[in-house]
Amino acid sequence: MFGRNYNASWPWEIPGSALRYRPADPSSETTLDFHCGSEPWAQEINDFVNQAGWVGKSYTCEALEFGLNGESVGFAFVLPSNKPHPDAAGPTKEPYQFVIYLGINTKFQGGRDPKSGERLSTLIFQAIENLPREVLDASGAVVGQTVGLMLEVCEQNTRAIECYKRTGFRKDEAKGTFVAHGLPSIWMRKFF
Ligand SMILES: CC(C)(COP(=O)(O)OP(=O)(O)OC[C@H]1O[C@@H](n2cnc3c(N)ncnc32)[C@H](O)[C@@H]1OP(=O)(O)O)[C@@H](O)C(=O)NCCC(=O)NCCS
Repeated sequence: MFGRNYNASWPWEIPGSALRYRPADPSSETTLDFHCGSEPWAQEINDFVNQAGWVGKSYTCEALEFGLNGESVGFAFVLPSNKPHPDAAGPTKEPYQFVIYLGINTKFQGGRDPKSGERLSTLIFQAIENLPREVLDASGAVVGQTVGLMLEVCEQNTRAIECYKRTGFRKDEAKGTFVAHGLPSIWMRKFF
């Protein structure tokens, strides 16, 4: 699908690139077909996407799907969360955008955008950073600003960690290594 039809299916653009995005659709074929690898952490993301794990939860996250020339590139799920700041030992909590799941279809891993030449992963983070930063109360009034992005990553997932470092994330040394889903994991942060 190209041109107007393609843009209608993928309504949001990332300026200067051919990568576009849209709200993830739980019943889409691209959701059911998603596959980002066979490692334990990748399988967890496959299952979350394939089984539309973000639907019917007590929380509401931003569920985004990225596409290039009509093909599904990957998914990102971002949950606004209050976390200790500026690290795990911080005295107060501040609002972060917590990237709960991020996966790129294996075909597109390591890929670049044909228009800008930029890494697809970098562009996906650009879109995540451009999500609204205002924190609203129940009446819709602005009561704060998100201070940065956070994520949890398995220590053995060196590919993801390299990608996050390149994108400006740093390890939360105060949190150190902890076990999540049976695997040694770390927190990483990128401040706005
Ligand atoms: C994590 C993920 C989104 C990153 O996207 P990507 O397109 O693969 O990442 P990029 O190619 O832009 O960056 C990966 C970096 O790691 C490097 N790399 C690749 N394989 C590597 C490996 N096995 N070990 C260490 N570094 C590796 C690449 O050279 C690149 O480094 P560079 O930017 O310095 O060149 C994608 O790999 C993915 O979906 N993985 C499976 C799911 C997953 O792990 N999600 C994250 C869970 S927290």
